[in-house]
Amino acid sequence: QKHLLGIEPLHPEEIKTVLDVADRYVDLNRQANKHSDALKGLTQINMFFENSTRTQASFELAGKRLGADVMNMAMQASSIKKGETLIDTALTLNAMHPDLLVVRHPHSGAVDLLSQKVNCAVLNAGDGRHEHPTQALLDALTIRRAKGRLHRLNIAICGDIAHSRVARSNLILLGKMENRVRLVGPPTLVPEQFREFGCEIYDDMREGLQDVDVVMMLRLQKERMDGGFIPSEREYFYRYGLDAEKLAHAKPDAIVMHPGPMNRGVEIDGTIADDINRSVIQEQVEMGVAVRMAAMDLLAQNLRASRETSGQGVM
Ligand code: CP
Repeated sequence: QKHLLGIEPLHPEEIKTVLDVADRYVDLNRQANKHSDALKGLTQINMFFENSTRTQASFELAGKRLGADVMNMAMQASSIKKGETLIDTALTLNAMHPDLLVVRHPHSGAVDLLSQKVNCAVLNAGDGRHEHPTQALLDALTIRRAKGRLHRLNIAICGDIAHSRVARSNLILLGKMENRVRLVGPPTLVPEQFREFGCEIYDDMREGLQDVDVVMMLRLQKERMDGGFIPSEREYFYRYGLDAEKLAHAKPDAIVMHPGPMNRGVEIDGTIADDINRSVIQEQVEMGVAVRMAAMDLLAQNLRASRETSGQGVM
């Protein structure tokens, strides 16, 4: 692949390759010296048009640990604020010869559009409700390490599915790897059209969590609800918030995941989120750095190969 724009275009073998390379980076990240020179001489620019803690920090760390020159564009202070378009901004940065562009944007499809205008590898760090591929890959790595496999698992994705790019990317990835995925949440947040992904839909948490291996909780994305129905937080927690009583319906060794940012007391009880015997939320963050290192390493290898073939030179 030239870019990482979504999970949709990836073959299961390509997903497995990213996870295998990421496993090696988990080991590197646990050592005193965390440095490699896989991206030495390359320039990585991070453009986040939406807020982020985990994704931005981990892409920056990943690039630095691999030896790239990393620049974080302060989009709030950029000429976007003076009316410059996304494409003009991309063309401007492209003229500075970056090798990797990491982009988060509030509009679905914006990162794909940008990738068509530049000469470097583009990584989607989340576009609107569309895809968040590195999140799905880090979730997959977390599941594979916790469960010892990434196939034939029963996985419940719970909460605000309608507005979630994390849910969409995970549904595609987990389906490609032959897992059984259930969506659990109120009908207003779990549209029937999601059945096209081949999953079952439940609006009762206890039924939806029955005997699952993995419980993946999602945040209520109020910023994407466009004035539509927003449930009261108390009522939502009562019916759909993950607490010990609801979790007891899952398998005794079921793991609890959340991509963050978390709203404790809304979609998840704080004691469950902090329970190191069940929650793998901190492991997800750790896997995020390794997966982003793997994704950039593999794209950089492809970039170097294509530049060598075209006689462009690499650095
Ligand atoms: N999971 C995730 O994308 O978190 P951030 O918004 O903090 O990057």
